[in-house]
Amino acid sequence: MDPTNKPEQPHPHYSLYQRECFMNGTIGQLPPFSVVPEKLQESTQKVLTEKGYWYAASNAGIGWTDKANREAFYDWRIIPRMLVDTNKRDMNVEVFGQKLKNPFIFAPIGINKIYHPLGELIPARIAGEMGMGYMLSTAASQSIEDVADANGEGSPRFFQLYMGHDDDVTISLLERAHKAGFTACILTVDTWQLAWRPTDVDIANYTFYYAKAGAPGNEMGESDPVFMRKYGDELKKDPSVWIDKHVWHGKAHDWKKIPWLIETWKKISGGKPFALKGIQCVEDAEMAVRVGCDGIVVSNHAGRQVDGAVGSLDQLPAIVDAVGDKVTVLFDSGIRGGADAFKALALGAKAVLFGRLWVWGMSHGYEGCMHVVKSLLADFDITMTVAGYPTLADINRRALQYKGAERNRPSRL
Ligand code: FNR
Repeated sequence: MDPTNKPEQPHPHYSLYQRECFMNGTIGQLPPFSVVPEKLQESTQKVLTEKGYWYAASNAGIGWTDKANREAFYDWRIIPRMLVDTNKRDMNVEVFGQKLKNPFIFAPIGINKIYHPLGELIPARIAGEMGMGYMLSTAASQSIEDVADANGEGSPRFFQLYMGHDDDVTISLLERAHKAGFTACILTVDTWQLAWRPTDVDIANYTFYYAKAGAPGNEMGESDPVFMRKYGDELKKDPSVWIDKHVWHGKAHDWKKIPWLIETWKKISGGKPFALKGIQCVEDAEMAVRVGCDGIVVSNHAGRQVDGAVGSLDQLPAIVDAVGDKVTVLFDSGIRGGADAFKALALGAKAVLFGRLWVWGMSHGYEGCMHVVKSLLADFDITMTVAGYPTLADINRRALQYKGAERNRPSRL
């Protein structure tokens, strides 16, 4: 870890964050908290309110999909290669026409003010500073415009849409997102209605309904002129109007609506990319291509929607085989470290989204979120180095073995 003897490389020396942590130890400074995922979750529980902690921790049902997500990572294993020149490493990648310094994107996560009073401004700022992708949720607790400011001029940012049934409101959100420099629209299709989440039910954990008492949740609606013109009076009397009618409304859209949305977004944005988030099935991925999407996010919402479902990583190879040469395939659900990201990239994802990790980080403030992000990047950079895969192009299926038996799972290749 000699910081001076490394040749030039296209991305920053993320690996040196480990050296910095070790060096700080010599002057008695330890990291503010552990980034070992279980310990990080524990320290998060200590700094958040009960409701804040459980909103991030809750899964659908009894949490088996969350478990399946993690098991899928365990089942795919990296094959280390030796005597490879990994001194010059390159993890730059282009996603939806935007250059990212590394293949990590902040997953869209709603109501960040329950984790920190600055809410979305913290992850948006860090994403901008680190040259990473940022996706803003429609369920955010800061306005589109304020988040764009925090993210910074020209930083790669994408808008995640929850689509209600009032097209005027949808159009208004998309116009604002476009004006504020969000360069792709990502429609989440796995959450027309919130899943059965018993650990939230136990404590009546639905911040939006508490907005009358000053709780966050309705900021995105309140900052939207069209929504306020049409529903502002209603919202004053009933804080559930935004979330119940325009976000998780419980009235599923189907494929027939997607061409309208693509056309609308393309018209507003001058042809910027459109993707679906929440795809877990080959047929749905193929349909997304047929209706004209530019990308998909293979995701099961961190196991928070359908309980007892397949692990997201297990679905990735077949989906990449079916549509990977036609659209951009991104991945999320269950990433807890650099090796996990490596595996998703090896199975064909162009880049990965990470969610709970940055939420747990931001619960410890800006510095805390930065510590988690730098640790994740260092972990990934060091994985590339010690496993012998110097560029993202080297990270392909030959880098993995399924459960230590065959080179790869036969049915998937
Ligand atoms: C989410 N996710 C999510 N997805 C989305 O499209 N819009 C949203 O508003 C939210 N909100 C949200 C809140 C919380 C607390 C969590 C944990 C997740 C899903 C998110 O974008 C992403 O798919 C997962 O978080 C990825 O899995 P990991 O990295 O959290 O395991």
